[in-house]
Amino acid sequence: MRILVVGGAGYVGSHCLQKLLATHHDAWAYDNLSQGHREAVPEGRLIIGDLLDTDLLIKTMKTHGIDVVLHFAAKALVGESVVRPDMYYKTNVTGTLSLLDAMVAADVKKIVFSSTCAVFGSVPPPITENLPKNPINPYGFTKLVIERALADYAAAFELEAAALRYFNACGASADGSIGEDHDPESHLIPIVLQVALGQRPHVQIFGTDYPTPDGTCIRDYVHVEDLADAHLRVINHLKAGQLVDYNLGTGVGVSVREVIETARRVTGKPIAVVESPRRSGDPAVLMGDASKALRELGWSAKFKAIELVIESAWAWHQANPSGFRK
Ligand code: UFG
Repeated sequence: MRILVVGGAGYVGSHCLQKLLATHHDAWAYDNLSQGHREAVPEGRLIIGDLLDTDLLIKTMKTHGIDVVLHFAAKALVGESVVRPDMYYKTNVTGTLSLLDAMVAADVKKIVFSSTCAVFGSVPPPITENLPKNPINPYGFTKLVIERALADYAAAFELEAAALRYFNACGASADGSIGEDHDPESHLIPIVLQVALGQRPHVQIFGTDYPTPDGTCIRDYVHVEDLADAHLRVINHLKAGQLVDYNLGTGVGVSVREVIETARRVTGKPIAVVESPRRSGDPAVLMGDASKALRELGWSAKFKAIELVIESAWAWHQANPSGFRK
């Protein structure tokens, strides 16, 4: 298949692009490089363009004879979305509507959308697809708006759409060629590993008074290669005129303190912590139930143990202490 990976120079997008090329699909990254990395995309596979440039998207889809769009491009930081909702509505909502309009104009029917468990807000775990969706931060709300737009566009324009709701994406490619590199970094695992590398003095624990066994937030850390695998599978399970949805998690909840403790064991470094106030927009517990993905796609996370995830991330961070900047 001929696949356009929108946001394909970013973290999850680049791992998916790598898997598509390895499985002999013809795939290209379309990315404005605002957050993505040129180095994360193989030579000759990068088209530099913006999500809001509908005309360039149409031209790109027509020129490359695209069959499927995988849409990863988004602003995706919970905390940032609370203070800069404007950026989130512009990129995530207006940008995605531009992409959908381009698909309709170029007659591209299939789209897989990177959604998030943040669409659910605070619901009791484990989180299944049919639970109520009441996001508690602007990021989650922008993704929910697009899920609804996808269902409406699918019905009106015979699109075949999927929303894959990731829990906390983490880890790096097995061959060590690509991994997680955000600037500035705000995600827990890379920050913890930067402390292990001596690049930061400590990691802040945002909130120690949550209603969880150790008082810190619980998340479901799902490996980026498992996420890439789910994308490949769902392409063959799309349905005309419909939006299908899947929650992609491991079903295992890990607290902030447990992540830090595991990282101490994996790296052999002490990793200093500073207990800090809660970060705005964070739900106490997010943990997925991916039994629908198992039933319908035959998908389940191969990386279930947090040790494996942190080992994979640690290998990338040790080999690339400055990320993609050499
Ligand atoms: N945390 C800390 N200290 C840090 C960074 C994070 O204690 O320095 C905590 C957070 O408060 C949270 C947990 O670690 O409780 C995980 O935080 P991340 O920033 O790594 O990830 P988030 O859960 O905020 O968000 C990520 C993605 C979102 C996605 C979400 C799904 O950034 O796009 O996972 O849970 F929606």
